[in-house]
Amino acid sequence: MDLSRRDLLTASALLLARPGAAFSAAPASSVDPAAGAKPIVLCWNENPYGPSPAARAILRSTITEACRYPPDAEIQQLTDTLAKREGTTPDRIVIGTGSGELLCALGLLHGRNGGEIIAAAPTYSELPDYARHVGATLKFVPVDKQLRHDLTAMRAAVSERTRAIYICNPNNPTGTTVAASAIRAFVDSLPEGVTTIVDEAYLDFAEGADIRSAADLIGGGKRVVVLRTFSKIHGMAGARCGYAIARPDTAADIGSARMSSANIFAVRAARASLADHAFLADCRRRILASRARVTTELAHLGLAYAEPQGNFVFFDTGMPLAQFTEFMRARDILVGRPFPPYDTWCRITIGTEPEVDAFLEGLRAFGNRHR
Ligand SMILES: Cc1ncc(COP(=O)(O)O)c(C=O)c1O
Repeated sequence: MDLSRRDLLTASALLLARPGAAFSAAPASSVDPAAGAKPIVLCWNENPYGPSPAARAILRSTITEACRYPPDAEIQQLTDTLAKREGTTPDRIVIGTGSGELLCALGLLHGRNGGEIIAAAPTYSELPDYARHVGATLKFVPVDKQLRHDLTAMRAAVSERTRAIYICNPNNPTGTTVAASAIRAFVDSLPEGVTTIVDEAYLDFAEGADIRSAADLIGGGKRVVVLRTFSKIHGMAGARCGYAIARPDTAADIGSARMSSANIFAVRAARASLADHAFLADCRRRILASRARVTTELAHLGLAYAEPQGNFVFFDTGMPLAQFTEFMRARDILVGRPFPPYDTWCRITIGTEPEVDAFLEGLRAFGNRHR
């Protein structure tokens, strides 16, 4: 691997120079994150502050209706709300049992009959994994030195058999982003019939002038599908709700390839959460502040990290990952799994402030022991 520690430390220094990176003790929000729970789970990129107060209230009041399927009218209301939010029409919205279900549907639609799908390495593997099961040919293109999607190399990998390209923005596990202008140019350069799938699960945590949704490309009739989820900024991973934005014909195909239908809790809580702007802003502010604390400590310890734009940080522990995960496990802290070929790198989810305190304490102890 030709990624140098210096490359990443330089990036780190630039990041640290960003204004607003300092930690400020966040005022207690009205939510009650699982305070003091053990083990501390920092391995699934969940948002521990959720669900929002509004979503919690509706979840509680819906318990007695768990014997019911969600009424069609309520699914339509959520679809309409999402369409309005995205500045599009309801026929371009598909709701899924998590965005993961929609990624699988897209893997099926584009991967069956030997369809070729291109993705970065490493990236979130739900779509490629599912596509492989249905007979897809997968082409993985390594991320660049800054651990970003290498769009030039991905474009060069396109062949006559290519059906889709998966871009995870920000990318899981590296956390890096692709600029909206670069995605637009990439989409414009593709042959007719190749679909670009942009997974924006973590976009709400990203910062930067040219970092924004690719959803506006869909209105122009391009073959672009954008995926969003309620599992991250909305803190509803357990409720299972996500959606796709796509051309009406593609949206209909995705809808017919789904394997489940939305549950009544997810449908109601998603609508409530979308309206809880104070909660969403509070989550973003707190997670970004904690993320800055983590990167400050990593820089202090001389550990390289990729530019984090999600609710997690991908960093080089400097030794085989198993040593680090074991060290943290002994402290009741669960951290991310291996992402080959980055065998010394760890993905750490931003938890609550006390959870981040515990992680940083562990990180410092680890640094002292291995210095
Ligand atoms: C990049 C990315 N996309 C999609 C998902 C799936 O999210 P969900 O199925 O909970 O909406 C995840 C989950 O971690 C993810 O990291």
